[in-house]
Amino acid sequence: MTPALFTPFALKNTQLRNRIVVPPMCQYTAVDGFTTDWHAAHYAGLARGGSSLVIVEATAVSPEGRITPGCAGLWDDRHIAGMAAVAREIKAAGAVAGIQLAHAGRKASANRPWEGDDHIAEGDPRGWETISPSAIAYGANLPQVPREMTREDIARVQADFVAATRRAVEAGFEWLELHFAHGYLAQSFFSVHANHRTDEYGGDLTGRSRFLLETLRAVRKVWPETFPLTARFGVIEFDGRDEETLEEAITLTRQFKAEGLDMLNVSVGFSTPDAQIPWGPAFLAPIAERVNRETGLPVASSWGIDTPLLANGVVEKKQMDLVMVGRAQLADPHWPYVAALKLGLDRPSWVLPPSYAHWLERYR
Ligand code: FNR
Repeated sequence: MTPALFTPFALKNTQLRNRIVVPPMCQYTAVDGFTTDWHAAHYAGLARGGSSLVIVEATAVSPEGRITPGCAGLWDDRHIAGMAAVAREIKAAGAVAGIQLAHAGRKASANRPWEGDDHIAEGDPRGWETISPSAIAYGANLPQVPREMTREDIARVQADFVAATRRAVEAGFEWLELHFAHGYLAQSFFSVHANHRTDEYGGDLTGRSRFLLETLRAVRKVWPETFPLTARFGVIEFDGRDEETLEEAITLTRQFKAEGLDMLNVSVGFSTPDAQIPWGPAFLAPIAERVNRETGLPVASSWGIDTPLLANGVVEKKQMDLVMVGRAQLADPHWPYVAALKLGLDRPSWVLPPSYAHWLERYR
């Protein structure tokens, strides 16, 4: 019998060859938003490893929406060609090409993780003004106080999401993930830690949901109906008010579904440095399962799912439809082949391209 991890999955008109996904992972190697040779080689390697879907890293919808100066972007038509090359490589390897569109909000203007992972110092010409629903800093390593967004800022960022979506379609991507997670701009609108607005974009759940719902609605209009439209959303903060946040997140996710969202990538909010996150193997699996059960929306998730048995188990137990395996695929881009061997898939080498598969099968 085919192991659960290697069963196909269909969403909209998209067929995935298995349940293994490369989650978005910033490479911090772009220049002025332009991808480089690194990106084409990196994503080609991962797609050839056998995952069914490769989601390209958080890609900024505007220059100020980048996390670091090295983040990729799609705010200019000139960015399309580089991203099209990346999408072509992914598809040539038999995977579906996805992209995550993002705005980093108050976590923008930071140094690369291995160069400090903190805000670029004030006065340093590499940095820029950050924006957020309220003028409240994240804190800890990211102390820069953002400028509170005006109505014009909100409308402009939403238009930027729409324009970037159009460019993503033009570049050949067939799976879209809106970054509504991890303490970046959209998550900040939802979060009581970051959003203290008194206008209709803040306050109660309806107010704190408005930016996310409007953005989704606007993107839905330009993203093709035949392709999956998904979002990554932090449904829990581990800040001591988890049940309340989860209930609100589930209510909002039901609205996402009504607006045409096809799948939720269940994640953590990362809106406060004071969170006590219970890192551990597949620690989000029960949360993903609950979101699926209470919303009826297909779910993907990640965090600490790095062994084939663990990954297969969460699919078998129907805790998630798709498993995002991040760092384990950085460690071994042929992780799906290793999983296929471990789980006893028939003819395991054929998760890899024929140029590899034939020889691995023949000379074992
Ligand atoms: C990430 N992560 C991440 N998440 C996201 O939504 N957008 C992004 O661009 C990034 N960038 C990123 C870069 C790098 C180098 C890492 C390691 C991680 C989080 C990532 O998608 C994933 O959720 C985590 O890595 C957890 O999964 P694993 O690594 O435990 O399998």
